[in-house]
Amino acid sequence: MSDKLFIFDTTLRDGEQVPGCQLNTVEKIQVAKALEELGVDIIEAGFPVSSPGDFKSVVEISRAVTWPTICALTRAVENDIKVAAEALQYAKHKRIHTGIGTSDSHIKYKFNSTREEIIERAVAAVKYAKKYVEDVQFYAEDAGRTDNEYLARVVEAVVKAGATVINIPDTTGYCLPEEFGQKIRFLKENVRGIDNVVIATHCHNDLGMATANTISGILNGARQAEVTINGIGERAGNTSLEEVAMIFKSHREKNIETNINTQKIYGISRMVSSLMNMPVQPNKAIVGRNAFAHSSGIHQDGVLKNRESYEIIDPKDVGIDENSIVLTARSGRAALKHRLHILGVDLDKEKLDKAYEDFLKLADRKKDINDDDVLMLVGKHRSENAR
Ligand code: KIV
Ligand code: ZN
Repeated sequence: MSDKLFIFDTTLRDGEQVPGCQLNTVEKIQVAKALEELGVDIIEAGFPVSSPGDFKSVVEISRAVTWPTICALTRAVENDIKVAAEALQYAKHKRIHTGIGTSDSHIKYKFNSTREEIIERAVAAVKYAKKYVEDVQFYAEDAGRTDNEYLARVVEAVVKAGATVINIPDTTGYCLPEEFGQKIRFLKENVRGIDNVVIATHCHNDLGMATANTISGILNGARQAEVTINGIGERAGNTSLEEVAMIFKSHREKNIETNINTQKIYGISRMVSSLMNMPVQPNKAIVGRNAFAHSSGIHQDGVLKNRESYEIIDPKDVGIDENSIVLTARSGRAALKHRLHILGVDLDKEKLDKAYEDFLKLADRKKDINDDDVLMLVGKHRSENAR
């Protein structure tokens, strides 16, 4: 039997914090509806106390989207929590996400406080949030750099205070995958009451390890992944939803299942990229322009014989019609023949050899060979043959 992994999407909160990515309420509703169709379990819709616009967006998303839980972020501050509860008033399923920094660096420099006082503030915030909603998620900001023994004390205290989900963020993207996995395991093994709550991972990508850390956390007992579309988020971004969903779809032996309708992935990736004016890097896993593009002759030949030679995911599974065989100076005859066939031109071996020679000359000069170029090449050979 598979275990369910809850997908918590924070595109509209952590993702939207990125400079230049701000959306208006109508655009946020559009993304929230697409997230609902995609099958995410929880949508973090915003940080209501941060601005009137964010407050309004959480209200309107709560009205427009009914299947997922709508979550609002707060600091461990009573007024933040009160405002978040107000913003969530129309949500069918609602969650308040409150928390505080727990690393020594946050305690000393951000709060000028002590470890004991931070536990008191964390507990007070959870108890206050419980007055408004049943579902209270607690985040231990900078948990990645928080000493495990102390983190376990914080977590035990907030679980006792009524938290239903415990979020362990690697806020600065510092942890190594093994270390992050051990952190989750340590909490599973050392916190009283931990089996009654869900542990969440929230990883940042400063060292390019957000997805690896998330997967390690899940394999060690976390059951909620906090993610964004295209991995957008503060600085180098957050863990990308599409990577986590496709990793567990590809590795069925891990017996972890999500509710994500993966065929909707590409559509929402394009939508978020264009609404936020944030291009996706071409070599981005799953949704990048080159994720299913084959350009070298050896790979093209292999894929044309059997897709699985060089593809571990069927592009249709993520909503892309088909892979692409890109024509470059590294392409072989098989790729040219394939493209010509798609364009309705079948050449015998001799003509293909000649066309291929010309094609290589052109490809050395011109990086992008498009269908017009190819047709122009064979047009030449056809007319030569006609003479
Ligand atoms: O990265 C982080 O620690 C956060 C928290 C507010 C959950 O985004
Ligand atoms: Zn974050």
